[in-house]
Amino acid sequence: MNILLLGSGGREHTFAWKILQSNLCTTLFVAPGNAGTAAIATNLNFSDTDFVSIRNACLNYAIQMVVVGAENPLVNGIVDFFAQDSSLQHIAVIGPNKEAAQLEGSKDFSKKIMLECGIPTATYATFTKENFENGIAYIENHSLPIVLKADGLAAGKGVLICTSHDEALNEFTEMLQHQKFGDAGTTVVVEEFLDGIELSVFVVTDGINYKLLPSAKDYKRIGEKDTGLNTGGMGAISPVPFANEAFIKKVESRVVVPLLDGLQKNGINYKGFLFVGLMMMHDDPFVIEFNCRMGDPETEVVLPRLKNDIVTVFQAIANNTVGELNLEFDADTAATVFLVSGGYPGDFEKGLVITGYNDIKESLVFHAGTKANNDSVVTNGGRVMAITSFGKNINEAVLKSLDAAKKINYVGKYYRTDIGLDLM
Ligand code: AMP
Ligand code: GLY
Repeated sequence: MNILLLGSGGREHTFAWKILQSNLCTTLFVAPGNAGTAAIATNLNFSDTDFVSIRNACLNYAIQMVVVGAENPLVNGIVDFFAQDSSLQHIAVIGPNKEAAQLEGSKDFSKKIMLECGIPTATYATFTKENFENGIAYIENHSLPIVLKADGLAAGKGVLICTSHDEALNEFTEMLQHQKFGDAGTTVVVEEFLDGIELSVFVVTDGINYKLLPSAKDYKRIGEKDTGLNTGGMGAISPVPFANEAFIKKVESRVVVPLLDGLQKNGINYKGFLFVGLMMMHDDPFVIEFNCRMGDPETEVVLPRLKNDIVTVFQAIANNTVGELNLEFDADTAATVFLVSGGYPGDFEKGLVITGYNDIKESLVFHAGTKANNDSVVTNGGRVMAITSFGKNINEAVLKSLDAAKKINYVGKYYRTDIGLDLM
């Protein structure tokens, strides 16, 4: 079967690497991909939201399955686009449809479903320009810190944690009166701050049946010891030691099962991967957010631990046979450390030549912001490469990745050396 994978990050290079281990894949195409995917598959030069080019490529290359890495194509309705086109209906698109992808595409939708299903989450209220004054009063009476969330997709920047009422009032006004996040911020969710330890749990579902993938912990801040600005993710660990069996059972019974039931009751058919972003507080799970896709960099530690053929997992999602899957995972710990561009998450230079990555033998190197340029590979984004290693424990896995990180070179290379340290 010919497969088209959509996206260009470390998550997609990891998916590509895993898909190519399957006998079920004849030819893998990636759009737009990066230098890492170009080395193992065929990159196609169009955006993952360019549905017309995606359609043409599917017809030209006899694609039978489309795997969607990132949220934008899903929230924009790629699944519905394929279902409505008679020349594309035979192609399985792995991911939720537009309505189901609202779990990530609209924070207000996601909070409403959680409330309706009794899923533990932060208390909240939603405001628009129409009830702006009520929002001001709500914020003035809210305990600190106050969390403001742009309703729509804002490339990971739409969540603000405000430590004073003045800051919250300013930001709230910027979002609703001055379009701080454009259309994404015309509705704002104001919610309670959850104080605990963050982790993610991943679910594979055909809408009715589900299976859990391992938990993972992502390190979001640019600086050591979780300081400085938020990034797309500086590293990840899987499994998460504190997410023991008892905790995961609570996640299933209090979050996953009620959510899938609630979606079905609302006539919403959620198929694909579901990312459950959680805060653990006193051993109990609270949902921070749902995402309609796998995480990045969590994929770089979760997929390498999966022993099953990933294409059979995709087929189970498409054929409603997820209940029959028997997923198996490597018991060892996987750690990934992201190498980023100097200056990231602020301004950074692109086009810097990267060397040394081909000499790494003890770890997996997944490309993210990289591009092939004549005979060399150059930086092409903030997050450049994720180095994943296995170990008997977190320390062993992280040390291997840090060792490999020293061997890869480009001007301005930066990475955190404390990934997983808090868990040891
Ligand atoms: P998001 O963009 O939705 O992934 O949120 C970004 C980050 O903000 C999350 O990963 C959390 O670290 C943090 N966050 C979001 N909501 C809350 C909350 N209610 N309480 C505490 N932290 C939060
Ligand atoms: N690692 C967080 C995300 O993928 O949204």
